[in-house]
Amino acid sequence: MKSNPLLLGLCFSLPCLLASAKDYLISTNQTSLLIKADQGQMSSIQYYGSRIDAKDISSVYDAGQAFWSNSYPAFGLHSWGEKAIEVVLPDGNMSLDLVVDQVKEYTSSDARITEVILKDKVYPFVVKQFYKAYKGTDVISTWVEIVNNGDKPVVLNQFASAYIPVRRGDNWLTHFHGNWGDECIMEEEKLTNGQKVISNKSAPRNAHSDNPSIMVSLDGQPREEVGHVIGGTLAWAGNYDIRLDATNNDLNIIAGINEDSSRYILDPGRSLTTPEWAMTYSESGKGGVSRAFHRWARSYKLNRGHVTRDILLNSWEGVYFKVNQAGMEQMMKDIAAMGGELFVMDDGWFGNKYPRNDGSSSLGDWVVCKEKLPKGLDGLIQSAQANKIKFGIWIEPEMANTKSELFERHPEWVLSQSNRPLSTGRGGTQVILDLTNPAVQDFVFGVVDNLMTTCPQIAYIKWDANCGIMNYGSHYLPADKQSHIYIEYHKGLQKVLERIRAKYPNLVIQACASGGGRVNYGLLPYFDEFWTSDNTDALQRVYMQWGTSHFYPAIAMGSHVSANKNHQTGRVVPLKFRFDVAMSGRLGMEIQPKDMSAEDKIFATQAIAAYKKVRPIVQFGDLYRLISPHDNLGLASLMYATPELNRAVLFAYKTSHFVNQNIPVVRLTGVDPDKYYKIEDLTPAKADKKCSLHGKIISGKVLKETGLKLPLKGEYSSLALELTAQP
Ligand code: DGJ
Repeated sequence: MKSNPLLLGLCFSLPCLLASAKDYLISTNQTSLLIKADQGQMSSIQYYGSRIDAKDISSVYDAGQAFWSNSYPAFGLHSWGEKAIEVVLPDGNMSLDLVVDQVKEYTSSDARITEVILKDKVYPFVVKQFYKAYKGTDVISTWVEIVNNGDKPVVLNQFASAYIPVRRGDNWLTHFHGNWGDECIMEEEKLTNGQKVISNKSAPRNAHSDNPSIMVSLDGQPREEVGHVIGGTLAWAGNYDIRLDATNNDLNIIAGINEDSSRYILDPGRSLTTPEWAMTYSESGKGGVSRAFHRWARSYKLNRGHVTRDILLNSWEGVYFKVNQAGMEQMMKDIAAMGGELFVMDDGWFGNKYPRNDGSSSLGDWVVCKEKLPKGLDGLIQSAQANKIKFGIWIEPEMANTKSELFERHPEWVLSQSNRPLSTGRGGTQVILDLTNPAVQDFVFGVVDNLMTTCPQIAYIKWDANCGIMNYGSHYLPADKQSHIYIEYHKGLQKVLERIRAKYPNLVIQACASGGGRVNYGLLPYFDEFWTSDNTDALQRVYMQWGTSHFYPAIAMGSHVSANKNHQTGRVVPLKFRFDVAMSGRLGMEIQPKDMSAEDKIFATQAIAAYKKVRPIVQFGDLYRLISPHDNLGLASLMYATPELNRAVLFAYKTSHFVNQNIPVVRLTGVDPDKYYKIEDLTPAKADKKCSLHGKIISGKVLKETGLKLPLKGEYSSLALELTAQP
């Protein structure tokens, strides 16, 4: 949105008046957002950046740094530039004239909230804008509630969550593009004039193609620990649209639900609440943005974000659909012997009329396949208990196969169109249940509830979703509301998850979605973690986990050691490299233990024990990315440190291998220069052959400023080192 020259002139002539009580300063420890909201006038964003105090507000104006950017520009009256909202009013008028009616400020258990109520000057139409400063974090979020107070429906064509001005300069965009099996790959580009749009249309999984999260640097190519960077994420699991609109002098971020094919009809007396756009401002580069989001996630946006996650074995790549009692028992015994804490039985355990032997049947029939598991879930849980580990199970409750008893009973529960053949997904028969329908919501809730009431010992659920919405048609929604499907699907899913969480707050649930498809803050509040990617290849994971780490904390990032050779890429990689990569997230295994050699089992046992030792640092510590795999230096490195910088874990991975190769020095940004650190090799390839740095005590100043020359020699060499500050 262009600055308003009229108001700008006013600003210079009446600085004190403008910096009056009608300025609302919304602050966290290190950031501030300044809103100007005078009754009867448009509301504007004046400042977003490092924290300022009330006494500095007039300086923002005096320095000519106020944005004067309409906080929620509407189409139709001042029709230049991008808009946040466009409607069709009952008389056909497409304009809105939104002015401030009232501002409320209040405190909730988790935040300080400022609510700016905008009303149209003529029509009974209200937009409530919320700004939420989360306590103890540096995240401020914003969203709107759009209310139709009239007596006829209003059509919403555009309804963004946020319209945020950014200081124009040498701005760069960081975003996280991907595909299935190659999710969340960091891309960076200079923002030139025009528009750059990050969006998706693949509901109900929105993160395979591009994550709904961006960073924008204000002062050149983004760096890890220096530079001014804004980070933002849309907390929405459905289709999203993040638009960067740049001219010579202005840059605006417009973020919200993707309105394509989603025209929304607001009936009289009804409202639509848009998802949160959460953002932070960092003066310490991208690293500062990541650490702020990780803290926010652990405190507010992840189920039980302060509880340690278990080390697990998942059965998928070990047996695929060939689930049976003896096989599951053997896997449980093996993971327990290696020190694991949880076993998860993946796909293939259910269906009696149609046993689930491949992807073509049974979704919806959530009963144990008696042929495969004659002792039922109880038998498996008893085995888990005998092995002193927990038991978890896979489900895909939003889906059905046309070859299932559920579909035979309820063909109308599936998203489809009565007069057209069904488009089907995986196995040629997979379809999606219509979560706009409350009866379907009850069914999906019941899938979890039935499992948990019959087997309350189930400690973990892997919640999968392997299909996009292909048949755009609901038998529940009326004809004039078919364009609500994408939005109402997610609202329905949220209702189900709220019920599950109300009843089962301590059940660990993983958001899987073909790996990587549901890495977003729309769903994470209901989940404990996500499955980062179906691709478990350790080398490719270095890149995917690097990208994912920008907005999502290690505690949530499911990261599993898998077979050699890897099932997705066919790559052969040492077990140590595979462990060192998986240990930088929530460690697990995705392997058939009975195929591992005795030597590998010994290594795995030691690595699992080492992970347990440093788990609190990885899962609750601060992340410092040190050397990017995208810099093509042949090395990638990152570290986690406690906030006091007294303990840290360093990970380093050789990503290429040549004769006479130069291995770059690694400077450890997450240490205290005034401390001395003892180094321990956490995962030596042989227990009696620790790396040359093991046992050394090195000053933080040298580690940070001069750096470490790491002993990384062979192909796929890697290191996991613990650093402990000396008393
Ligand atoms: C896709 C998931 O991402 C895999 O981990 C596995 O659970 C399969 N689905 C099972 O069908």
